[in-house]
Amino acid sequence: MTNLPPPGTVLGRLEDLPDPGARASAWNDGAVILVRRGPTITAFLNTCPHAQRPLNLPGGKVMLHEGAFIVCPVHGASFAATDGT
Ligand code: FES
Repeated sequence: MTNLPPPGTVLGRLEDLPDPGARASAWNDGAVILVRRGPTITAFLNTCPHAQRPLNLPGGKVMLHEGAFIVCPVHGASFAATDGT
């Protein structure tokens, strides 16, 4: 079963998230990534489905191509920042 943060969990501070931008959360050693696009913040599990590696770089930064696609730093898979497809 997937380990999700319980309701009400603080995942990070808005001022630490660039717009547009993405970062690993402060919660559970970066188990979630947060994507900011304007007024919308979306959270995704921080695991690439290809080889189950984290989507963040050292220091928590997440590559967000053109503000629209999360890019895995391991082999370059891309995921829509809106719904993860
Ligand atoms: S682990 Fe992400 S693309 Fe391979």
